[in-house]
This record gives sequence, C-alpha cells and structure tokens, in this order.
Amino acid sequence: MQILEINTVNYRNLEIKKQNFCSGVNFIFGQNAQGKTNLIESIWMLTGARSFRGTKDADLIKFGKDFASIKAKIFAGRREQEIRINFAEGKRKAFLNGAAQRYPTEIIGTLRTVLFSPINLSLAGGGPEKRRRFLDAAICQLKPTYTALLIRYNQTLKQRNSFLKSHPEKNIDFLEVLDINLSALASEIMKNRLEYMIWLNDEATKIYSDISMNKEVFEIKYISKIMNSSEFTAEEFEKIMIEKLQKSRETDFKFKFTSFGPHKDDIELCIDKKAVKSFGSQGQQRSAVLSLKLAEAEILNKKFYDPPVVLLDDVMSELDDLRKAYIVGKMKNYQVFVTGCDKTALGMMKSGQAYEIDSGKVVCFKDF
Ligand SMILES: Nc1ncnc2c1ncn2[C@@H]1O[C@H](COP(=O)(O)OP(=O)(O)O)[C@@H](O)[C@H]1O
Ligand SMILES: [Mg+2]
Repeated sequence: MQILEINTVNYRNLEIKKQNFCSGVNFIFGQNAQGKTNLIESIWMLTGARSFRGTKDADLIKFGKDFASIKAKIFAGRREQEIRINFAEGKRKAFLNGAAQRYPTEIIGTLRTVLFSPINLSLAGGGPEKRRRFLDAAICQLKPTYTALLIRYNQTLKQRNSFLKSHPEKNIDFLEVLDINLSALASEIMKNRLEYMIWLNDEATKIYSDISMNKEVFEIKYISKIMNSSEFTAEEFEKIMIEKLQKSRETDFKFKFTSFGPHKDDIELCIDKKAVKSFGSQGQQRSAVLSLKLAEAEILNKKFYDPPVVLLDDVMSELDDLRKAYIVGKMKNYQVFVTGCDKTALGMMKSGQAYEIDSGKVVCFKDF
C-alpha cells in the first residue's frame, strides 16, 4: 500500500500541490509549527478516521476559510485509486475514485495506515480509554464492519444511559429491551476484540522479545469487568452481561451510567508477569508501546498480504539507537513517513526522500 501523490486545499496551514512520495522512507523535516504533523494528519484522515489530535472537523479548515479538501492518489488493492475528503459547513464528504460516498466512514479500509506519535507513548500508563481506543481503531482498519458495530453499541449505550437519567425505575420493560440489545452488540464486540488480542499477543510478544534481546517476556491481557478469565465464548459473555446489567440496575440508576460492558474494559500490558503501568521503567513502557504499534502494522500486513503505510510523527528522537535500528529493520517493506526537526531523527534510515516543510509548503525535496 502506498501514497503516490497528495494535494491539499485549506487543510490547516498546508498548501501541498501535487506532491509525490517515494515507496520507501519519506522524511519530512522543518522547524517547529511548520506543518509536519499536519501533513501526517492529512494522510491519517484519508483512512476515514477522525483527527488523532482530537480536533473537530470544522477546526481542520484553514483559519478564515470555509472549505478544505485533501486528495490523494494511492496504490491499494493492487491498483491506483483516488481518495478525496471535503470539509465544509461542519460536514465531511468522502469520494472514492470520483464517486461520492453516502457516509464518510465508507472509505474506511481503502487506505490502511499505522500511526506512531508521541501521544501513543503514554499508552502504557494512565487510564484505560486510550488503550481501548487503540484496540478499537486497530480492529476498524482490519475489519471495516467493526466501525458500524461500535457506532451501534455506543448509540445503544447512550440510549440506556439517558434512560437511566430520565426514568425512575418504572418502565423496566424498556430497560430490559435495551439490556438485551446492548449485550448482543457487546458480545459481537468481544468476539472481535478477543480474536484481535490473540494476533496482537502473538506479534507483540515476538517483537518485544527481539527488542529486549530475549531477556524479558511481554504479554497483553484483556481485562473485562464482566468476566474474570479471558477464556470465554461470546455466547457465554452475552448471557453473563445481561445478568450483570440486571444485578447492577440499582447502582446504574444511582450513578445514571451503565457500569458494565466493553466500554469499561482495558488491556493490561505485562513484562515478566508484572503490569507495565505500575512497575515498568520508562524504557520498558516505550518498548511495550513500540511493540504494540509494530504488531499492529505486522497484523495488517499479514492479513491483507499488503503492508500498511506507517506514519512516525516525532517519535524517532524519543527512541534510542537500538530501538530506532529495530524499527528501520522491521519497516523495510513498508512505505514510511517520518517527521523530525533535523537529520538526527533519520537515524539509520539509509535511503529515501527528504522534504522540507516551511509555512505549510514543501519547499524542497531531495534524495538522501
Ligand atoms: N485550522 C488551521 N488553520 C491554519 N493554521 C493552522 C490550523 N490549525 C493549525 N494550524 C497551524 O499549524 C501549525 C502547526 O503545525 P504542525 O503540523 O503541528 O507543526 P509541526 O511542524 O511542529 O509538526 C501552527 O502554526 C498552527 O497555527
Ligand atoms: Mg509536530
């Protein structure tokens, strides 16, 4: 999978006109606040996701303008394709090979990318939300239908929560319907998450073992508030979730929130059977996150027999030579976009193309 050419109009501070990219390493360099992350983000947006910086679509449009667009020629599915996203009037419109899509999420799965940015470095510590988001985002690219499933689950959850807020325990019948719907959707989510966990464990454990020179053992556990063990079928899960929802009704009415479900789960990262979150050194935390991200890329590569585009925003300078060299080796068959302020971020990347960004424009590019 490859980005061949990008055009942007009024996307943040960018003015990228018909810029070509090479199939190997594309090194984007420049001073601070010139648009390096914006370029990485514009590529990321072409996957159909929301901004990884949490920016609302309306704020992606250049200050003072009312329209923005990102267009790219890509090589995907063994042919050249074109993706375009327009932003205007608070709405996003996506086009695939010139055809307007009914929903902007319909382009999910056309371009697959794996992003590694400083915001991921905190994945190993802190609250469970970002780990859930990592897991869900990874599955969405692998199985685009998972996106619709997540949307339906979140809608039903919202419905249940607003019911808890507005109804004092009377209309229990309706709540029962919501419980059944929510549990059925939850069990579908669990099926997907648990399947992905097997692949993730398999790849990430191998990668971590390489990075640590076989000295440490890495493992990822799925932590569910519904089931204590990770050995369960989706059917068992559905049944137990309904029971749990029924039992927790009183508490849920009190807190006006659904206390059980995949929206409360977590993944625990462990090194030598100890939780990285509580006991990991900074180096171990970085290796753990790096392993997850590289595993995400490997899984996509293996499942589609096609490597995703890898986006490394500002992370090379955060990693030591050993880890940098490992990434370089692993990414040999991938198209990679790397950003950094100066050449040191390049590390051991042997060849590719370098692009300097100044005030949102590519001012020069050359081979290195
Ligand atoms: N909607 C927008 N319109 C115009 N400029 C924007 C918009 N959003 C962000 N910017 C500008 O983009 C620049 C930051 O770009 P960024 O890609 O994060 O920089 P860096 O090169 O450090 O990665 C800032 O100058 C900021 O003002
Ligand atoms: Mg940046």
